[in-house]
Amino acid sequence: MNPMKQISARSGLLLQNPWNLDEVIGLDHAIAPEYFAQVPALVLQNFRWLLARDVYSEGDAQALYDYIWARKGEMSAAFLGLLRLWLQDELKHYEALRRTYRCIAGVSYADMNGCFAARVHETQPIERVLRDEFTMLVTLMFDEISSVYSYRRDLREYYARFDSAVQRVGHHLVQDEGTHFQNAAQVLLQEHSHRLLEVEPLLQEIAHLENSLQHYYKTFFLDHAQEKFRFPSHFSAVMIQVVLAQLGLGDRPSAATLRSLWQWVPDGCDWVPVGAALTR
Ligand SMILES: [Fe+2]
Ligand SMILES: [Fe+2]
Repeated sequence: MNPMKQISARSGLLLQNPWNLDEVIGLDHAIAPEYFAQVPALVLQNFRWLLARDVYSEGDAQALYDYIWARKGEMSAAFLGLLRLWLQDELKHYEALRRTYRCIAGVSYADMNGCFAARVHETQPIERVLRDEFTMLVTLMFDEISSVYSYRRDLREYYARFDSAVQRVGHHLVQDEGTHFQNAAQVLLQEHSHRLLEVEPLLQEIAHLENSLQHYYKTFFLDHAQEKFRFPSHFSAVMIQVVLAQLGLGDRPSAATLRSLWQWVPDGCDWVPVGAALTR
């Protein structure tokens, strides 16, 4: 694997994991039939539902990028540099998940193009977190670290049951979302250190907003509330602790607490269903 690339962003350094999509999973990748024979039908069905949401929510990064770019006069050069790298990665995730979705569920690229083109991206319901660059960075930290733990669970419950290409896609998603979290912390500390006292109340506001939203509005941010039943009730509180610790504002949760987020299972099951009614 290539070493992590460091990219200068004004005075700081942003990180990017330079993995090659075509080397991980090809456009026409096919999964050997024995994998499908081994996976319980209900697990396979849930993986397909999960992918049907995740593939498009990764692509929604373009809508958020376009929205922020339209306000670029308000933003720092460091944040705009972060966004460029972030969009490259998120669109790579979109393409990686399209390839995964196709070989797991048999959905064609043409059908995916049609579904994605029909999406309506709304910013108004989440405008409270889009007030300025600072609130966007705090939200990005919360969202990206939530994605790390969400994808860890997905990797364990679904991706790990398939071949090495699918597993590697899952691993790269976890690693990249972690890097996005670190980069957002770096820009926040570099550009907004005078506002650190606002971080904790804002995180509480973000968690409250995510929990109160009835839908995911297809604008990338705050898409985890819909799957909160897959996680223990303290998920958001632990995510807030991780963000605060990354910014030097508190202690990191214990390894056991963090593990509980993605290894948690209710009623002794070995996996938690995604749920057909969810859309992302
Ligand atoms: Fe992503
Ligand atoms: Fe990300």
